[in-house]
Amino acid sequence: MARLLFATSSVLLLQAALGFMPASKLAPAPRTAARTSVPSRSGLRMAATAEEYKACYVDLLETVDKANCAPIVVRLAWHDAGTFNKANADKPFPDRGGANGSIRFDPELAHGANAGLGLALKLLEPVKKRHPNVGWADLMQAASAAGIEATGGPRIPMRYGRKDAAGPEDCPKEGNLPGANIPGQQTGPFPDGTPTPADHLRKVFHRMGLSDQDIVALSGAHTLGRAYKDRSGLGKESTKFTEGDAAPRGDGAKGYGRKGGQPWTEKWLKFDNSYFATMYDPNADPELLKLDTDLCIFGDEGFRPHSMKYKDDQDAFFKDYCVSHAKLSELGVEWEVPGGVTF
Ligand code: HEM
Repeated sequence: MARLLFATSSVLLLQAALGFMPASKLAPAPRTAARTSVPSRSGLRMAATAEEYKACYVDLLETVDKANCAPIVVRLAWHDAGTFNKANADKPFPDRGGANGSIRFDPELAHGANAGLGLALKLLEPVKKRHPNVGWADLMQAASAAGIEATGGPRIPMRYGRKDAAGPEDCPKEGNLPGANIPGQQTGPFPDGTPTPADHLRKVFHRMGLSDQDIVALSGAHTLGRAYKDRSGLGKESTKFTEGDAAPRGDGAKGYGRKGGQPWTEKWLKFDNSYFATMYDPNADPELLKLDTDLCIFGDEGFRPHSMKYKDDQDAFFKDYCVSHAKLSELGVEWEVPGGVTF
């Protein structure tokens, strides 16, 4: 019953945030966390208030913008949440997986799919120190939402108050995230036995309870960032978009963090719908990356209506992206404050 109430209020919140419903029709959502103690590795910490979550989010907007690190924190939050298994939704961690901050512990950070994400944790550590009452699971998800907004994307209707994984014993087994290939390089089925990229994406994302539309909308996050040889092993060492005077930010300001890697889009520090136009265009600059799983969002009949819509209509992409991103950020979440906290 509690789960049903929570799911209903989640949908109402999203609908209101996206303008489908007058705010007056909203079920009253708790805006401020009760000032209770919650367990943490180092003993007890106070549950954060709505004001503290807001201050942390504002800090993250600035931090992410200064460090040009939106892509890696978006990837961190997705890899934390993307271990969710809806078949185990009623089981405790680690069986359930989800957005619980377990990726900060070594067993999970060491998974092959998470190569390089230790750097994202290092970037967030000073923010955690400045906002000690905000838990790790919330901090990661807040950083990702701030990364989308700081690079020109929409403000995502987020809720906070996630229960943190307590220790390494809460880390899920390896192998929950999607695999990736460069077109033409895959010789057999994916390791999970699926024969095509579209089948593979469906198997992985449907396990999380996400839909075909969520798959396509969330793939649009590859408008940000790049693949690195020394992390995923995919893509080029470097391109004209990731070295020298490259200016990938949307506002034209200089700076992009470390050199190298291969991006999906020219302006890979700008959140927009250019990913869809690039994946669709057979004559796109060959220095831009297209994974098998990126291309199948146009190749597969079920995915295509969504990818065509997002290619042609950035507002539609932003609207659907907000819904899918918020869903992803809440996978497997156990709320410390029933219904979560908004600001
Ligand atoms: C659809 C299946 C997906 C596959 C196969 C996939 C695969 C990959 C790969 C191989 C990389 C390169 C990692 C590296 O070398 O550092 C990457 C990076 C990235 N992914 Fe995905 N991904 C998928 C979905 C997603 C989703 C759902 C999101 C977020 C909502 C996302 C966000 C990102 C971002 C932002 C980067 C860039 C990271 C950086 O520049 O440091 N991806 N992805």
